[in-house]
Amino acid sequence: MDKLVIRGGNRLSGTIPISGAKNAALTLIPCALLSEEPVTLRNLPRLADIDGFQHLMNQFGVTTAIQGTRPEDFGRVMTLEATRITSSVAPYDLVRKMRASILVLGPMLARMGEATVSMPGGCAIGNRPIDLHLKALEAFGAEIELTQGYVKAMAPDGGLPGGEFDFPVVSVGATENALMAAVLANGTSRLFNAAREPEIVDLCNLLVAMGAEIENIGQSDLTIHGVKRLNGATYKVMPDRIEAGSYACAAAITGGDVRLEGANANDMASTIHALRNIGIEIEEDAKGIHARANGALKPANLTTAPFPGLATDMQAQLMSLLCKAEGTSVLKETIFENRFMHVPELSRMGAEIETEGRTAIVKGPADLTGAEVMATDLRASMSLIIAALAAEGETTVRRIYHLDRGYERLEEKLQLVGADIERLDD
Ligand code: UD1
Repeated sequence: MDKLVIRGGNRLSGTIPISGAKNAALTLIPCALLSEEPVTLRNLPRLADIDGFQHLMNQFGVTTAIQGTRPEDFGRVMTLEATRITSSVAPYDLVRKMRASILVLGPMLARMGEATVSMPGGCAIGNRPIDLHLKALEAFGAEIELTQGYVKAMAPDGGLPGGEFDFPVVSVGATENALMAAVLANGTSRLFNAAREPEIVDLCNLLVAMGAEIENIGQSDLTIHGVKRLNGATYKVMPDRIEAGSYACAAAITGGDVRLEGANANDMASTIHALRNIGIEIEEDAKGIHARANGALKPANLTTAPFPGLATDMQAQLMSLLCKAEGTSVLKETIFENRFMHVPELSRMGAEIETEGRTAIVKGPADLTGAEVMATDLRASMSLIIAALAAEGETTVRRIYHLDRGYERLEEKLQLVGADIERLDD
């Protein structure tokens, strides 16, 4: 297992290329199940989760081919061809490693009339149930059975009729599953209180390119007119707004100045707003976003919320940044109940953070010092890297497989802007 060793104190400066969005890619890949024709995805990030999803697709009989990218390039192109689907079962072994596997349920049900997916296990950032995924599919006419740790979904003979579902809680994944099921339904479906995250818009845009009929894209009330079949398409994955936001925090904590090439400011308005409140200058230009620290960092009160609110996936990284702000900050996490696991690790590095339920109070500025720390989940791991970049001395981050799930060649990108970071065999 690898570890990362970071010697803090270098001011980050230069350009970081932003990869395709992991969370968009994880819902675009299963769209290939909806058509007999090939779907080609460009700008796919090279990540462990994407490899995992590729294996899952292969397990269904989908062929996958990676085209013409050099090892030194970021991103890659994948063509998925689901001409013949030979299995509709997503086994435990593949699903347990990657929660997003549940996103095959909707498209598989739509195309094959049935799907059997292992229940995703518990997850480090909270309980993360899938009840809303299942309820939405039931509302569209599916029959759902839970047996021996598997969800079995079946459409009536002749396919899903379609229907209406009002989400009691905004859920990104459940909205994605419902959309992918509804596009091939016999009738019209409506979703209320659907998630509006940019990754959902990316999904809708691919589905439309494949011939789907979706009204109100980007809104919380979506109408989907089912079509008989979908064609193939070639589609470029949107830039990763969380990766871009994470590197903005990394630059800011070092008093640095980075260009985030390819980042899209419209997708990350709430993060930009938070960063500006903390005192970071953010400018958009034709190539992306320019983030520049300008004097002392200011404390902030931040609350996560569904889009267009502040992304929960940015909470940990912003918390690290606020450890260096001059004053007391308050962060409220409203999406997941157990998403402060970075706090004890940050405390070991000298941060002064108290938590009470879903609120964290950060007292700054802290004198951060290097330490041996453990990554607990993807974004929590990034928060440790950010703190380490500003810490005195050396930090060793272990269990970095979490980072490899979501940040394409993190240490290379940070080295590009002058960070002292290396990956070592543990
Ligand atoms: C996705 C993102 C994740 C991000 C999250 C919130 C992917 C692969 N992952 O996760 O990075 O942090 O959105 O923006 O895109 N809930 C239920 N029942 C359900 C589903 C969800 O109660 O069936 C609850 C969850 O426990 C949570 C809230 O809804 O409290 C939001 O979760 P959801 O939006 O579904 O997150 P994911 O799609 O799993």
